[in-house]
Parts: sequence; C-alpha cells; structure tokens
Amino acid sequence: MSLIDKLDYNRLPCHIAIIMDGNGRWARARGLERSEGHREGVSAIRKVVEAASKSSIQYLTLYAFSTENWNRPSEEVNGLMDLMVYAITRETADLIKNGVRIAYIGDIERLPGNVRETLEGCIRETAKGERLTLVLALSYSSKWEIAEAARKITCDFTKGILQEKDINEKTISRYLTTNGLPDPDLLIRTGGEQRISNFLLWQCAYAEFYFTDTFWPDFGEEELYKAIIDYQGRERRYGKISEQI
Ligand code: IPE
Ligand code: IPE
Ligand code: MG
Repeated sequence: MSLIDKLDYNRLPCHIAIIMDGNGRWARARGLERSEGHREGVSAIRKVVEAASKSSIQYLTLYAFSTENWNRPSEEVNGLMDLMVYAITRETADLIKNGVRIAYIGDIERLPGNVRETLEGCIRETAKGERLTLVLALSYSSKWEIAEAARKITCDFTKGILQEKDINEKTISRYLTTNGLPDPDLLIRTGGEQRISNFLLWQCAYAEFYFTDTFWPDFGEEELYKAIIDYQGRERRYGKISEQI
C-alpha cells in the first residue's frame, strides 16, 4: 500500500520546499564520481515532482544550486550547469503534459547564457500549467535576496515610490524574489545535515522542518508522503496555545 492513501487532504501543505542534499555522498558510498550522484539526483527530482503533483501539492520549491555552491571546484560547477540544461530540455514536454509551471528564484544573471536561455524557454513553454508550480532555486541564497530587496526598497524610496510608513513585513515580502508565492509550510532537508544553508530564511519563519538522513538520490515518492504525514501530525500554534487552535 502506498502512503498516499494515508494523506489527509484537508491538511495538505500548500507549499513544500526541499534542500536536496547528499548527491555527492550517495555517489562516493558507491565508489562513483560525485557527478553520478547529481545525475541520479535528477531522477529523484522527477519522482518527487510527480508525487507532489499526484498528492495535490500546489507549490514545490527545490534548492538546486546555492550562491555558495559557486565556490565548488569548477569542474563540478560546469558539470552541474550542463546537467541543468540537459534535464530542463529533456523534461519540458512532460512538464507541459502534467500541468507543471516552472518558475525560479535566485541570481540567474550569474548563470551561463545557455542555462539561462534554456530556463527562460521552459518558463515560457510551461506558463499555462495550473496543477503545480515548481520553483527552482538557482544561484540562490537568502542573504543575497534580502540584500537585493533592501537595495530595491532604497531605490524606490529615493524615487518617492515608497515612503517610510510603507515599510512593513508585506512590503519586504513583495521585494523578495518569492513575491507572489505563499511561504513554505514544510521544509524538507535530505542528506542528514540539520541546517538551513542560506535558504528562504525570511519565508521559513513559521515553516515546519523535516530532516531525513536519506541521501537525495534515494528520496522518492513514498519518502515525500512520509514527510507530509509527519507534518500533518504537528500542531502549528503560531505563538498561541493549544486550546486556541
Ligand atoms: C546536493 O548534493 C546538490 C547540490 C548542492 C548541487 P551535494 O553535492 O551537496 O552532496 P553532498 O552533500 O556532498 O553529499
Ligand atoms: C545546500 O547544500 C544547497 C543545495 C542543496 C543546493 P550544500 O551541500 O551546498 O550545503 P552545505 O554547504 O553543506 O550546508
Ligand atoms: Mg551537500
């Protein structure tokens, strides 16, 4: 029996964010190159996107490449860029067929031209998808995003578009790259580390965290449902007490 039958459809997380970690260790444990782990990670993405769509999740954000990941050996960075082009190109037709709309967050200006073009093409072609919004975090970090927001706010303040009284939590959210997306309800990190690694710091203020030792290439449909079921067992109090919920 699949765990999908155990989901409570009245209490689904609207937005799930995932830190997909452990590709390198998955490969090393098998005596393979790290790049093999990244390749296998793409298969895991396919499975998880399908599972999210099947279980009626509306938003899925995947941390695919962080600002800090630019500091990896250039061979690995180049391999990841090539893999992105390959994976996006190969998957676009299926994404359209399955009603998945692609979006991104991050400093994509830093991505090589061919990656940017492939991504932008996929965004255009999948724009009509209404079943699931799949947000790719590419060259993303939360501190970069918050600093950018501060810069843009200052710019608009100088131009007179914003005034001091306009600065509140909603305004700041609007200037983040996640503008228009609901905050994640559930943040999953695979690969055993229990840290946030500069991901959605503002947006995860009240997210439920789920950590698993499973390396990303081994994470799949049932593991996603397991995380959702765990989430559904939690009480989200938002500062109140149990009796008020
Ligand atoms: C996550 O797996 C993928 C990216 C960060 C691109 P890692 O490459 O970080 O794998 P580990 O953590 O070294 O095992
Ligand atoms: C976080 O994984 C970034 C992505 C999953 C894209 P890392 O493997 O880069 O994280 P740290 O540096 O070990 O925290
Ligand atoms: Mg890692």
